[in-house]
Amino acid sequence: MRVVSGIKPTGNLHLGNYLGAIKQWVGMQADVEAAGGESMYFIADLHALTEWSEPAAITDSTFEVSAAMIASGIDPTRSILFNQARVPAHSELAWLLNNVARVGWLNRMTQFKDKAGKNREGASVGLYDYPVLMAADVLLYRATHVPVGEDQKQHLELARDIATKFNLDYKTDLLLEPEPLISKAAPRIMSLRDATQKMSKSNPSDAARINLVDDDDAIAQKFRKAKTDPEPMGASWESLKDRPEAKNLVTIFAALADRTPDDVVAEYAGQGFGSFKPALADLAVAKLGPIRDEMVRLIADKGSVDAELRKGAERAASLAAPLLRDVQRAMGL
Ligand code: ADP
Ligand code: NA
Repeated sequence: MRVVSGIKPTGNLHLGNYLGAIKQWVGMQADVEAAGGESMYFIADLHALTEWSEPAAITDSTFEVSAAMIASGIDPTRSILFNQARVPAHSELAWLLNNVARVGWLNRMTQFKDKAGKNREGASVGLYDYPVLMAADVLLYRATHVPVGEDQKQHLELARDIATKFNLDYKTDLLLEPEPLISKAAPRIMSLRDATQKMSKSNPSDAARINLVDDDDAIAQKFRKAKTDPEPMGASWESLKDRPEAKNLVTIFAALADRTPDDVVAEYAGQGFGSFKPALADLAVAKLGPIRDEMVRLIADKGSVDAELRKGAERAASLAAPLLRDVQRAMGL
């Protein structure tokens, strides 16, 4: 078992990234170890280039994401933690796989259509090719399982298609089709201002977003001010089905407390959100505060974070080298 996943260093990390991705990875670390496997988590700095960012913002965000992972419990001695740009084999394999992937396949990628919008001609070639780099990221390590959000499922399907075609064309079994790992437990966190939109780092105007570096007061304030309907908590999780704001707050509470939403609803049944929101604010401060403190400490200690990334990249590069060599040979290089 080899689990590989990445996160892009763009924008501010938020509660959705933590509960929907990083916290899941931390939980998986022990399971993967128990199965005798390996976890690899990387900061996808090469992917960050596909849409314009100031270079310094990418550098800062790389440290922020690394710090968030370590502070949340990704242990660099137990998982391989690195930034993608430090392992050139990602780019090299992506180029080789560019010759296997078909233009028609990439044309079907919905994320490119969404991100490029009406200005397709003005989109970078990198944005178009993003899914091939993502395929390289996981095929390079013969990943067995790739934790992904719903929005990345289509890209992982493409990685599987690329692996299949490569193996067929070059009569080998070098590339392994990875399985998506879509955790049922991974919650989708919605904006505290508009529960029809997901909490997102790519929405800079969402002042209600809970950033992982927010101080205690900011966290508490944002939960106290979260939009809700006037009804009290229902009697069951099911009863909240047409109440997106209520559902979102219960989802966040349950995920932070490691409880089921049913259990949380049962505890607060009949009470107004006027008392639920302060309880949620306290819980969030208690859970996120220590992570933030450790993140802030690590962000200020760039040398030690960089040393961890460098060690991680060396380990990743040595895992990648034999596969890359075999792929080159299979292609006649
Ligand atoms: P964003 O969507 O904020 O730009 P990314 O696309 O870089 O963030 O996502 C990084 C990881 O965080 C992915 O695994 C993604 O599924 C997860 N994630 C992002 N936003 C949320 C959210 N609101 N709720 C749950 N998980 C999320
Ligand atoms: Na996303």
